[in-house]
Amino acid sequence: MNKIFIRDINRGVVPAGEYEISGWIKTHRQSKQVSFIELSDGSSVKGLQLVINPELESYKGKEQDFTTGASIAVKGALQPSPAKGQSMEMQVTDITLLGTCSAEEYPLQKKGHSLEFLREHLHLRARSNTFGAVFRIRSVAAFAIHKFFQSRGFYYLNTPLITSSDCEGAGDMFRVTTLDLNNLPLVNGKIDTSKDFFGTDTSLTVSGQLEAETYACGLSNVYTFGPTFRAENSNTTRHLAEFWMVEPEMAFCDLNGDMEIAHDFIVSIIKDVLENCAEDLDFLAKRDWVKHDLLGTLQKVTESEFTVMPYTEAIDILLKSGRKFEFPVSWGIDMQSEHERFLTDEYVKGPTFVIDYPEEIKAFYMRRNDDGKTVRAMDLLVPQLGEIIGGSQREERLDVLNDKMSKMGLSTEDYKWYLDLRRYGSVPHAGFGLGFERFLMYVTGITNIRDVISFPRYPGFAKF
Ligand code: 4AD
Ligand code: MG
Repeated sequence: MNKIFIRDINRGVVPAGEYEISGWIKTHRQSKQVSFIELSDGSSVKGLQLVINPELESYKGKEQDFTTGASIAVKGALQPSPAKGQSMEMQVTDITLLGTCSAEEYPLQKKGHSLEFLREHLHLRARSNTFGAVFRIRSVAAFAIHKFFQSRGFYYLNTPLITSSDCEGAGDMFRVTTLDLNNLPLVNGKIDTSKDFFGTDTSLTVSGQLEAETYACGLSNVYTFGPTFRAENSNTTRHLAEFWMVEPEMAFCDLNGDMEIAHDFIVSIIKDVLENCAEDLDFLAKRDWVKHDLLGTLQKVTESEFTVMPYTEAIDILLKSGRKFEFPVSWGIDMQSEHERFLTDEYVKGPTFVIDYPEEIKAFYMRRNDDGKTVRAMDLLVPQLGEIIGGSQREERLDVLNDKMSKMGLSTEDYKWYLDLRRYGSVPHAGFGLGFERFLMYVTGITNIRDVISFPRYPGFAKF
């Protein structure tokens, strides 16, 4: 007998006939003539209606065990349904209880739990409609990302998670060590890391960019897609300590080329999700925490160019806005969320590339502009959320890079390998990093980043 998934039934690709299906019970209604079980197998927001004759041998006498949350395997005839809201239902010929589920103890009894409640039951939340939808979309989007880059001739590169260099130079890194923390080897009062596993200081990576640059300067176009780690003590709805980043790196590419790819990339993934996750998106768009027209917004993004705005102009706009911001605005500030939100939500009313940021507030590797004050950086800001992409053209001139690194107090000895790329056949190159979870928030309308990653890590929390 054929095994089927509810997703395929709802897509109309399963003809009437005899099938097997397994899943978890959402609801169970009994009456004298007929019983109904709504079954979920995690493949669709909509369940499958199982129609059961109460006299059915495998059912009779065990009715009370078929509770919400219990798992079952069923055989039956899939047939057109007379009921509203579903095209097919299954007339059950055999039902097997796989795992019981205590009605007193099961936390997800009722429908429509809050996201906060579900966050306290991380290991069970995949059973809820919302998390089913979010994680199906996450999977489709991840595949779409590979499709996009592979179809453009990029090579998928895996960069190290344990690293001895600091890409963003911000110092927010988790240390990796096998030293006995209760008995640290010391020299001159400092930890002797030569005794550590790698014989040096190591951390979890904050970005694969520097390593990706070495491969772009050999394979031309590469991309990474993997976990990154940041020990910033940011307890916000937009920050995780472990998140996934997509980082393309392109040789023979400047900032304009970088933005063009970033735009095409975002549009392509959104189109893919709109096409392949229509049912899940429809469901999410109707949740009461989604305060805007989610589908309309996504559709519009796929149809328009993104505004490009130099940082200096953005600061001007903020200064002239007449708005009283909590953090005062002046040239040179690192824009805060409220500033970004004003630009994207109120001024541009759409995704915006802010470019040419002050050198002082950006990482050492960004290409210095001729004005000597700004660098060839770009951040893509989107309404409701803020930054989802950070990228730049890289400094490919050895002397300028040396100058920038010494100004920022970085050791040219430690980064010799990085400088070698500028010594041996240096090329203009550029890239960016998309925070995968930020992007998923944008697409799903979910407002807390902890709800778009399976097991979030944030200050004070690393359960599982
Ligand atoms: O802007 P960031 O720090 O850029 C880089 O790491 C570059 N090396 C990327 C590159 O050019 N290859 O981070 C990139 C993106 C941000 O725009 C944001 O979307 C996301 O990563 N991000 C986070 N997402 C969740 N939690 C955090 N703590 C994040 N920090 C950054
Ligand atoms: Mg950034």
